[in-house]
Amino acid sequence: MADPERHPFLQGLSKHRGTPPTVVVIFGASGDLTARKLIPAIYNLGFDNLLPADFHLVGYGRKPIPDEEFRSIASNAIKEYSRRELDAEAWNRVGANTTYVSGAYDEKAGFDRLAAHIGEIERRVGGEVQTLFYISTPPSVFNPIIQNLGASGLGSRHLGKPHHSKVIIEKPFGRDLESARALNAELRSVFDESQVYRIDHYLGKETVQDLLVQRFANSIFEPIWNRNYIDNVQITVAEDQGVGTRAGYYEQSGCLRDMIQNHTTQLLALTAMEPPGSFDAEALRNEKVKVLKAIEPIALGPESDAARAQYVAGMTGGKGVPGYLQESGISPESSTETFAAMRLSVNNWRWNGVPFYIRSGKRLARRVSEIAIQFKRPPGTIFAQKDGFNLAANTLSFQIQPDEGLSMILNAKIPGLDTRTQPVKMSFRYATTFGSNTPEAYERLVLDAMTGDGTLFIRGDEAETSWKLYTPVLEFWQSQGRGGMEAYQAGSWGPAGADRLLAARGHVWRKP
Ligand code: BG6
Repeated sequence: MADPERHPFLQGLSKHRGTPPTVVVIFGASGDLTARKLIPAIYNLGFDNLLPADFHLVGYGRKPIPDEEFRSIASNAIKEYSRRELDAEAWNRVGANTTYVSGAYDEKAGFDRLAAHIGEIERRVGGEVQTLFYISTPPSVFNPIIQNLGASGLGSRHLGKPHHSKVIIEKPFGRDLESARALNAELRSVFDESQVYRIDHYLGKETVQDLLVQRFANSIFEPIWNRNYIDNVQITVAEDQGVGTRAGYYEQSGCLRDMIQNHTTQLLALTAMEPPGSFDAEALRNEKVKVLKAIEPIALGPESDAARAQYVAGMTGGKGVPGYLQESGISPESSTETFAAMRLSVNNWRWNGVPFYIRSGKRLARRVSEIAIQFKRPPGTIFAQKDGFNLAANTLSFQIQPDEGLSMILNAKIPGLDTRTQPVKMSFRYATTFGSNTPEAYERLVLDAMTGDGTLFIRGDEAETSWKLYTPVLEFWQSQGRGGMEAYQAGSWGPAGADRLLAARGHVWRKP
């Protein structure tokens, strides 16, 4: 955390959010996400005194693990993955109340034991506590967990009160429209929508929230945020890493399911939505759903609005790396895309005729996520091209990560006795202004769920609307097998097909 003494902009931020006494139960307690993200997030919330005084963490999983061992797994995870070093005093406050319950996901008996354990915590606390169930397991056990939360009564604890049970559900939220609908129906059979927090961790990122602040807390943007001034919008979510150790998951998923349907589309929704009437969960999510519904069906086949590709061997970070088909655990005939790009049209009054280009991929030139708003070129009556002036289009870019910030490309005069112009960049960098140790997305999201704020979570109808847009693409690609699958070199910016999507409208991808 940046020191408020040195960073005056941070002064006056209230820490207390009135969180009721809470038990967080993690299903999938020995999984990768728990170690990398969830335990460090909880630790850092504790460090910042943002957890309620009566806070308990309960791991649940198939493997029997004694409490003491689970505590040591947790403290090792903090040592390895937390943004802050392990501070014994801060950890003890959480660690002292950290326990583990073992049980199967498809047997009610385990959930009954969990219910008894939570009842015991309540007796010790001497009052009612809210329970937040974090489902961080593979999707194959989502349904039994939901059913058993219902059957054991855990899902309906303290219903009707603000500290009623809540459930956070990790991605993937379905793998197409039909499975997302089925999962929503399953959730609704046990929970009310107000109890359900579907996570997309991109919404917890500081810069993604800053996008909302920039758009709606500054009066200069709204008048020009439309088709009269904006030429096109480019959203890039690029990773330099390959598939790593997640071959099993990734082969079943691919870039469209893993990144485009959720993270990238969320960035688009926040960029393109109308200003919500207020900053509350329903108002904001209504606007996101409206704009997602306004996106036209994606053209497929000839004149396609979609491109997909797999990386082949290349170089990243000065090192030779294998192609996707040579990665361990990947079928040599795999038709899973590691890159996807789309040209989307938002058919409403604000955006008609403005293409939204989105792309994401693994093993690209570098890890960078940005939203670039390209404005129309000046008319060229003064500083005309024919007179040798080559003006850049003004571009406002939100740098989501890394090097978080905001920049604007303007054209300026090069000092000198003749008139020559050059594009210049005006930048705001988070690290320079606020210090660099900002909270991780999961900290914000776990805290929001504990306090009952669903603003940064995906509503059921929103998940379905997004799947509705992309399911025809998935089905088309599946029907084509490897037909139409392009290749791109690891360490490049992706396949030629992604460039063609833009070239057809006279555009080129901006170099992030
Ligand atoms: C996850 C995807 O949701 O997001 C991963 O499953 C991806 O494949 C990750 O690497 C990217 O998240 P971040 O926060 O590192 O940009």
